[in-house]
Amino acid sequence: MGLVPHALAPHIPRDENEKGTLMSSESGSLEALLDENRRFAPPPGFRDKANFGDPAVYERASKDREAYWADWAAQLDWFEPWHTVLEWSPPYAKWFLGGKLNVSHNCLDRHVQAGHADRKALIWEGEPGDTRTFTYGELLEEVCRFSNALKGLGVGKGDRVTIYLPMIPEAVVAMLACTRIGAIHSVVFGGFSPESLSDRNNDAQAKVLITADGGWRRGGVVPLKENADEALKASPTIEHCVVVRRGGELSEQVGATLQEGRDHWYHDLIADASTECAPEQMDAEDTMFILYTSGTTGKPKGVVHTTGGYLTQVYATTNAVFDLHDDDVYWCTADVGWITGHSYIVYGPLANRAQVMMYEGAPDTPDRGRFWQLCEKYGVTVFYTAPTAIRAFAKWGDDWPAKSDLSKLRLLGTVGEPINPEAWMWYHKVIGGERCPIVDTWWQTETGAIMITPLPGITETKPGTATRPFPGIEAKIMNDAGEERSAGYLAITSPWPSMLRTVWGDDQRFRDTYWSKWKDTYFPGDGAKLDDDGYFWILGRVDDVLNVAGHRIGTMEVESALVDHPSVAEAAVVGKKHEIKGESIAAFVTLKEGYDGTDELLAELREHVGKKIGAIAKPELIVFSADLPKTRSGKIMRRLLRDIAEGRAVGDTTTLADPAVVKRLQEQHEAEEG
Ligand code: WT7
Repeated sequence: MGLVPHALAPHIPRDENEKGTLMSSESGSLEALLDENRRFAPPPGFRDKANFGDPAVYERASKDREAYWADWAAQLDWFEPWHTVLEWSPPYAKWFLGGKLNVSHNCLDRHVQAGHADRKALIWEGEPGDTRTFTYGELLEEVCRFSNALKGLGVGKGDRVTIYLPMIPEAVVAMLACTRIGAIHSVVFGGFSPESLSDRNNDAQAKVLITADGGWRRGGVVPLKENADEALKASPTIEHCVVVRRGGELSEQVGATLQEGRDHWYHDLIADASTECAPEQMDAEDTMFILYTSGTTGKPKGVVHTTGGYLTQVYATTNAVFDLHDDDVYWCTADVGWITGHSYIVYGPLANRAQVMMYEGAPDTPDRGRFWQLCEKYGVTVFYTAPTAIRAFAKWGDDWPAKSDLSKLRLLGTVGEPINPEAWMWYHKVIGGERCPIVDTWWQTETGAIMITPLPGITETKPGTATRPFPGIEAKIMNDAGEERSAGYLAITSPWPSMLRTVWGDDQRFRDTYWSKWKDTYFPGDGAKLDDDGYFWILGRVDDVLNVAGHRIGTMEVESALVDHPSVAEAAVVGKKHEIKGESIAAFVTLKEGYDGTDELLAELREHVGKKIGAIAKPELIVFSADLPKTRSGKIMRRLLRDIAEGRAVGDTTTLADPAVVKRLQEQHEAEEG
């Protein structure tokens, strides 16, 4: 059958006494997960036409991983071939050494030269319903124009460019233009605050900022230029700011003002720019982009990705996991501000000559059927979204998708957090009409591309598991000592092409965060279990990182934002289970002498966090408390706080300095929850 046995599975010792911190109080639901017995084989019609229908690919890849990845890389255009596939001196990997290539050339020119200039590349719809389409030929011209415009502003190879844009075609153009001229882009999600933006500008020492007057979100305007202006007051390295006019009613409403000399309209810059721009010949190991992501400290990390390995793996995974064919219309609902948007809206799909659908706005604007109307209107065949969205759709009811014709859909994907089996089953039945395979894809900003996933024409799926490592990827589950177990921490045991190369400007942090737990093995920060079929069940983060609606937020970041407020003496932030978002943010706050925990102050603190970081980081629950539960050595007991936030019985409190504090907190919490 489709199921590929995992040779290792039966021999791995069961070690149910893993560190308490890992499995904590989740073990009840975990057992339920592993009892999941529903299995879904690829529909025969799907398997017969799939790019990958033969399980032999796994064996072939593991026999000679380097040759396997080199086969994928060879499908791209190289100006100069590599002389060595992999050089691995842990934790530093170099892939395709000596090779020279250009990403925008591979995403655009390569297809145009092969006769596909008129094929649709980007099919875009704005939230108000305006539409724009670019063929591969048109997208190439637009990218060349903007590449020349950037050069005109003095941007060259290796310079950093921050991109702070809504989900409009210019976001894709700006990213590709950077890669064309060898500039390093750092895309900052449009929902981040001015302060988050200037922090990222400064950390990367960016020279140019690309933004828009605004974007639409849920019928309202996101005032990006206004935010950018605020950020620019504290971004001394930015010499020029390029502003895209979003157009229509929005631009009239916003009426953005441009600062003479510093700011330039995008449309003015490209007006006279040439539609030809020779792509820079980049070394495979030249830095391609930086993407900031939250970690366990207050300061986000600039994850560094390089050119050849990244493009190879996003190309390979898009091809194999999304099974793209010529007549597919592919839609990934992520924002380009996250890694999913980089890898699976822009680079992977365009490198595969896909017809990529892109939508600016919210799923419930003007109504809760918007996504399904878009699927029908554009004939979407492959659809990739997040569990948090699926749970929201399920809650909104089956009537919304029922109003649209979803019969063109043939493959569904999910990413960002563990998907609960009920949400998986709903997706399968109501969206997929019980005929579409579901690919549950595990990966991270740091891995750059999909790592653990079904292959839709091969793998028998089970609701809730990302199944097996992609061919050419080696993963295990380990305990603290680095011994293989069937429950413990997820570990990636050999280098992969799209792995992060370092943390921008902080190589020590790169080594400490990912490579210090075990020898020569990558630590992703997730807990996982292996079942008898050798399938990986990813359980979520084991560090102080939250996953709120598929977005990564560090508890320390939120704590720093809180203590930045004049009223706050101390704050402890934990995750709390949330029906739709997976996790929501709960904050326990101790106020300074002279402040009262009023409702007004509570609202002010939420706003303050929103202003410091962005709306996604606003705590859902804030509990004021005279003190926080600490061990005698002064460590905040987060596990207790999680129990309190989720209303569970609190376990052993004997190690606490003041056990009574828990009772007071519980009472306080009950009062807050009403
Ligand atoms: C973290 C990475 C990768 C793009 C979106 C998030 C969690 C991601 C899955 C999945 C279970 C998942 C992990 C991971 N995660 N995909 N299919 N099943 N968990 O990227 O912000 O870098 O977050 O998201 O906890 O470590 P990110």
